Amino acid sequence: MTISILGAGNVGLALAGAFTRRGETVVLGVPQPAKYATAVAALGERARLTTTAEAVAAGEVVILAVPHAAVAAIAHSVDDWQAKVLVDATNPLAPGLAGLTLGTTTSGAEELARLARGARVVKAFNSTGAENMADASYPAGVPMMPVCGDDAQARQRVMALATLIGFEAVDMGPLSAARYLEPFAMTWIHLAFRQGFGRRFAFGLLRR
Ligand SMILES: NC(=O)c1ccc[n+]([C@@H]2O[C@H](COP(=O)([O-])OP(=O)(O)OC[C@H]3O[C@@H](n4cnc5c(N)ncnc54)[C@H](OP(=O)(O)O)[C@@H]3O)[C@@H](O)[C@H]2O)c1
Repeated sequence: MTISILGAGNVGLALAGAFTRRGETVVLGVPQPAKYATAVAALGERARLTTTAEAVAAGEVVILAVPHAAVAAIAHSVDDWQAKVLVDATNPLAPGLAGLTLGTTTSGAEELARLARGARVVKAFNSTGAENMADASYPAGVPMMPVCGDDAQARQRVMALATLIGFEAVDMGPLSAARYLEPFAMTWIHLAFRQGFGRRFAFGLLRR
């Protein structure tokens, strides 16, 4: 299975590295591929770099690792997503990481689902730092990756990808749970940057 990743920044390259190291094939799509040629070449032969449109076409699973401002145009660039699994790793961040630009009664993921006709939208890979996606190993436990989406099969597929790269995938149910996952990302950001935690921590799930 080819995994398409739109965006080759912090999140795109982190996920691409994590997937290719485990034998998956990824296609990264960006507006100007030449800009990322060196970074993607360093990932090895399982990673290919192309345009956004070609990457959208290549994969059955398409991960959005782009600034939130780019999401609507990408959603509209395809007339019919033909049941592709469209994974929303974005957060609708206000400038300066000052908060979220929407939420509570909707979410970035739900807005995306309204725009991307025929896509099975799943929210995942938004709620922890990119370094944790590159390397999810911690000495004291397994970081969690909450996943939500209305299509159970699509959700399971993305949970399997999260598990593959070292997370405990947590089934959050319907896409409307993205209303909680986007603020949850702000919790990580708040601790990392406002509270001085830095980026080397992750949330995990304890049970008894
Ligand atoms: N950084 C994190 O730790 C983190 C963690 C969780 C979630 N997120 C979310 O994930 C998203 C990406 O964050 P990031 O830190 O990876 O951002 P980033 O480093 O700025 O990378 C964004 C990437 O998206 C590309 N891009 C822009 N428009 C595009 C389009 N139309 N098609 C394809 N690619 C496009 C950019 O290419 P150009 O350079 O050519 O513009 C760049 O490669 C954001 O929504 C962010 O909120 C980030």
